[in-house]
Amino acid sequence: MTSAAFPALRLRRTRTHAWSRALVAETSLGPADLIWPLFVTEGEGVEEPIATLPGVSRWSVDRIAERAREARDLGIPCIALFPNTPAALRSDDAAEAFNPDNLICRAVAAAKAAAPEVGVLTDVALDPYTAHGHDGLVDASGYVLNDATVQKLAAQALVQAAAGADIVAPSDMMDGRVGAIRSALEQAGHANVQIMAYAAKYASAFYGPFRDAVGSRGLLKGDKKGYQMDPANALEALREVALDLAEGADHVMVKPGLPYLDIVRRVKERFEVPVFAYQVSGEYAMIEAAAAAGAGDRDALMIETLMAFKRAGCAGILTYHAPAAARLLS
Ligand code: PBG
Repeated sequence: MTSAAFPALRLRRTRTHAWSRALVAETSLGPADLIWPLFVTEGEGVEEPIATLPGVSRWSVDRIAERAREARDLGIPCIALFPNTPAALRSDDAAEAFNPDNLICRAVAAAKAAAPEVGVLTDVALDPYTAHGHDGLVDASGYVLNDATVQKLAAQALVQAAAGADIVAPSDMMDGRVGAIRSALEQAGHANVQIMAYAAKYASAFYGPFRDAVGSRGLLKGDKKGYQMDPANALEALREVALDLAEGADHVMVKPGLPYLDIVRRVKERFEVPVFAYQVSGEYAMIEAAAAAGAGDRDALMIETLMAFKRAGCAGILTYHAPAAARLLS
């Protein structure tokens, strides 16, 4: 630590010029820090804007392939795909989730064919496929069943891996699912498929626009507090991370992002593993709304928040701003 004091020490000195600010910057942010979440819908040549996520659309599979090439050209290393399953294919047993030719599997294959050098991440959870909008199977009382769901999640991860997914990301918050997915992948010959565990995923009010995007908002019965974490808890997040790492997760994620940077920091310091954060749909929508209301400059708000994730210790950030940020940063 420095022992100098004012006026020998003037911390403003290095802030005087852009070049010296650049020299002493402690954190860097670039396109390679970003994962771009994309929504998939049926059809061909389709782009469907999402009203509660201004600037974000659902794309048909052929146009997902274009987005994969766009990611490559922008230097974004990975895209994350989420399906808007047609209503007729949603059911109580989520059968469509295990169909090897479902929308997400076709999108994965198209993305990998179009831009093989871009990583493809898929979400493992049943909510885009269930008639009730929950992430797992539900019993007659409305309880989301843990162990029965875990078996289904392992089957879901297998069809995604077979389609070419590079990272499977369980976002369901069932206990024991990372271990079950890891051993299913191992047995099926997918030893190198990575698992990014949504390890500390909170029952958050920031997911609304996402649920519009995947079409589950109107379907959801009740809330997800019986499996997603209580925003009051931090020690419990550390236990979740420890479990997921012990079960074979390669990366862990904290979600939502900005309101939970304390969790990111604690996880990074405790475990020294790659930590990712998901700047979720409601966070994105808040920035867009603030900019539209004239409360701040959208690009500046975007870059400042993304830098905050990196400063807190993130290896990378899932953000709907990924293409816009990458354009500004490159
Ligand atoms: C579903 C899932 C959700 C998100 C990612 N995967 C929503 C939820 O848990 O209800 C939220 C992402 C976002 O809001 O951007 N398993």
